[in-house]
Amino acid sequence: MNEIKKKIIHNVFIVESKEGTKILTKSLYPPHYGERKWNEYREWIPSRSKLASMLLDYTLDIQRNWKCLYLGAASGTTVSHLADIVDKGIIYAVEYSAKPFKKLIELAEERKNIIPLLKDASKPEEYSGIVEPVDFIYQDVSQKNQVEIFLKNIDFFLKKGGDALIMVKARSIDSTIDPEEVYESVLREIGENLKIVKFGKLKHHKDHIFIHCVL
Ligand SMILES: C[S@@+](CC[C@H](N)C(=O)[O-])C[C@H]1O[C@@H](n2cnc3c(N)ncnc32)[C@H](O)[C@@H]1O
Repeated sequence: MNEIKKKIIHNVFIVESKEGTKILTKSLYPPHYGERKWNEYREWIPSRSKLASMLLDYTLDIQRNWKCLYLGAASGTTVSHLADIVDKGIIYAVEYSAKPFKKLIELAEERKNIIPLLKDASKPEEYSGIVEPVDFIYQDVSQKNQVEIFLKNIDFFLKKGGDALIMVKARSIDSTIDPEEVYESVLREIGENLKIVKFGKLKHHKDHIFIHCVL
């Protein structure tokens, strides 16, 4: 690709191309989920990754040496891009479903900064002997009690002053009420425990918001 790339954070670039706006990560590794790769740039597909969708509209200054705890890693689509960013850091990637976990293991074998954990994120005490205090917690578990899971892990692992990002899926929390009502109650609960820096809708994911908070 010959288009001009604008760097937004370490190893993350926004490109205006004939196909529209694209987000890419600079990567030493091969594609992981069918995304395209041009030279060392890997396409980060926003409809497949809520973090990519968020970063197209809002910057979070993820540092390359951050220690991260990722809850709801699935097969590693977003983990693979986060691993490109934190190339001098580490990602503890928690997933409780064995099927996607197999592919997550393949990713971790290829890269040295991913530690896959086949664990239930609602039971942080079961991995507190492995995970160290972290700079960043990312959560994407689409569960009714996702806020409780998020806060519990923050309590266990987030360093004071650390960043946390939750992807809230309204329909998973309560499909019987208006998503806006769900967001309001989630924001209230999180605001009682953490400082909310920013929140907003995810353009590529219906009925989802991100909430960026700091401890
Ligand atoms: C929406 S998918 C995650 C997609 C992934 N974050 C990505 O962007 O590549 C949600 C994942 O969370 C996992 N999950 C849900 N509840 C969990 C829990 N309590 N502990 C660990 N994983 C959980 C599911 O098995 C599923 O793989």
